[in-house]
Amino acid sequence: MSTLKLGDTAPNFDAETSIGKINFYDYLGDSWGILFSHPADFTPVCTTELGAAAKYKDEFEKRNVKMIALSVDGVESHKEWIKDINETQHTKVDFPIIADENKKISKLYDMIHPKADNTLTVRSVYVIAPNKTIMLTITYPASTGRNFDELLRVIDSLQLTADHKVSTPANWKKGEDVVISPSISNEEAKKMFPKGFKEVKPYLRLTPEPDMK
Ligand code: BEZ
Repeated sequence: MSTLKLGDTAPNFDAETSIGKINFYDYLGDSWGILFSHPADFTPVCTTELGAAAKYKDEFEKRNVKMIALSVDGVESHKEWIKDINETQHTKVDFPIIADENKKISKLYDMIHPKADNTLTVRSVYVIAPNKTIMLTITYPASTGRNFDELLRVIDSLQLTADHKVSTPANWKKGEDVVISPSISNEEAKKMFPKGFKEVKPYLRLTPEPDMK
């Protein structure tokens, strides 16, 4: 079992999926990636989660993020389940769902938490940058479905802060003011952030989101 941490390189793997065999790195290419695990096929919360993910296909694509899901059931089960998801959630799942029957990938990514459940994966999320660095991990229990608006929000923050020396404050959403990194002096900040900034405290300086027109 490994424990992957922020900043680690996401391990590569080959996998059977609902869309055929894939190599993880080849699948991701130069895109960002989001890898999320589900406890099991034909379960209610997972059905709503995969439906929610499929409905946000355009939002993930806009952000250049490739989605890939995982559960420990087999390919044929996944294909049957996808029909149910499409029917009940009024959508079309077209991203791959990994069939991790031998739990090779679940173990590689530490998605089985034995004290929660000895065999099923918990609801893990990994967001991976184009250079394959792990940028975010979140773990939810089986009883709580994930909030895909929050996943998009955090991806917006990760992508913004990868390009600019800023951080995003509590409950930040795209378009709102961001925080200037404390390592930047006021002199540097004046040049770096031509829209200006507001100094609430010397360590708390707010500036409009740099990417916004
Ligand atoms: C669900 O997706 O509803 C679920 C799966 C496993 C355990 C509990 C809930």
